[in-house]
Amino acid sequence: MSFDAGKFRQVLGHFPTGVAVVTGVDAEGRPAGMAVGSFSSVSLDPPLVAFMPDKSSSSWPKFRDSGSFCVNILGAEQEAVCRTFATRGGDKFAELSWQPASSGAPILDGVLAWIDCDTEVVHEAGDHYIVIGRVRQLEIGTPALPLVFFQGGYGRFSSLSLAAWESDLGVQMRSADLARPHMEALAEELDVECVASAVVGEDMVLVARAGLLRSQRLPTAVGQRIPFEPPMGTAFVAWASDAAREAWLKRLPKDAPEGTLETLERTLAEVREAGYSVGRGHRWHSQAAEVLSRDQPDQHRDETAQELHRLIQMLPADYESPRIDADDVRTVSTPVRGPGGSVVLVLSVTVPGRRSLGADLTWTVERLRAAADAVTKALEGAP
Ligand SMILES: Cc1cc2nc3c(=O)[nH]c(=O)nc-3n(C[C@H](O)[C@H](O)[C@H](O)COP(=O)(O)O)c2cc1C
Repeated sequence: MSFDAGKFRQVLGHFPTGVAVVTGVDAEGRPAGMAVGSFSSVSLDPPLVAFMPDKSSSSWPKFRDSGSFCVNILGAEQEAVCRTFATRGGDKFAELSWQPASSGAPILDGVLAWIDCDTEVVHEAGDHYIVIGRVRQLEIGTPALPLVFFQGGYGRFSSLSLAAWESDLGVQMRSADLARPHMEALAEELDVECVASAVVGEDMVLVARAGLLRSQRLPTAVGQRIPFEPPMGTAFVAWASDAAREAWLKRLPKDAPEGTLETLERTLAEVREAGYSVGRGHRWHSQAAEVLSRDQPDQHRDETAQELHRLIQMLPADYESPRIDADDVRTVSTPVRGPGGSVVLVLSVTVPGRRSLGADLTWTVERLRAAADAVTKALEGAP
């Protein structure tokens, strides 16, 4: 053999896997489970799946004789659940809610999907077993991104088309720098707050802000993130490639009301035609502001994202449409284009307090677009 165990692990760690918790019940009916990366589908007809427990696992023997198991596919927010089930001993279910599947094996709350199985056959393979299960029932659970394991670390999935947005954070930061003088002039002239945001990964990130005295300030801060998902972010998406638009639309929850997709497409067309998008309503703004203004140490980023996600889901699909009655418009946003015409930044102005733009809307949009065009020009972008 030209390699040792370390090399074997290191090389095989280059294959990314999802993470599942395989659960079952022991002879006394108590739940047991273990985290696995070795889950795989095997056959469609008959429907078979497999996972590979280590012969040293103390959990697998507990439910082996029950003759069934349930595979729980973890979401990106369930890293803590994974850690619990990857640790030997203790009551792994102490802090979890679950329901029994028809086999009796636990379905954990919040999983992406679950697959309830009867054990078909168990093969020995070196220091592991290969357990093959026949699927008795399976269901999609919570819509979320999956937890991914790669080279010994946890991560999450982002589709290539969504990743394309963040191709060059350098360009985004440089354009924010170029935009700042324009943003400051605009903020002072219109007595508003002006911010620049960029798409990074799955979020819209605030990369620069200008304007408003501290006493009036909105709870915005550079570095703040808002999930980049419908119906928010239309000023990025309206001019994006088909693939990038699809990636954004795919983030719509599966249970979105009928007609949502059509309304979003129509809103994007309206934003494209008008050249800007809007943000409306004080109530939503103040709820989002409340979430954003909490002191957010990094560990809580997922919780904040979840709360913002919930708030975003409450918005109507045409929330950012410039066509809707302008009475309560508080924010207008327009794109800055980079070389090649792609949207690198979105500039937005927001009026403070309980004001709305009202009669100033047309004028504000005109000034905002002039500023965005000036930055586009400085970037040698295609307007
Ligand atoms: C991402 C990840 C993937 C894992 N995949 C497997 C696997 O496929 N098979 C296995 O036996 N153990 C796997 N483990 C380790 C087990 O979860 C862990 O060793 C075991 O559950 C320890 O507890 P037990 O003695 O209660 O079984 C994995 C752990 C992690 C974090």
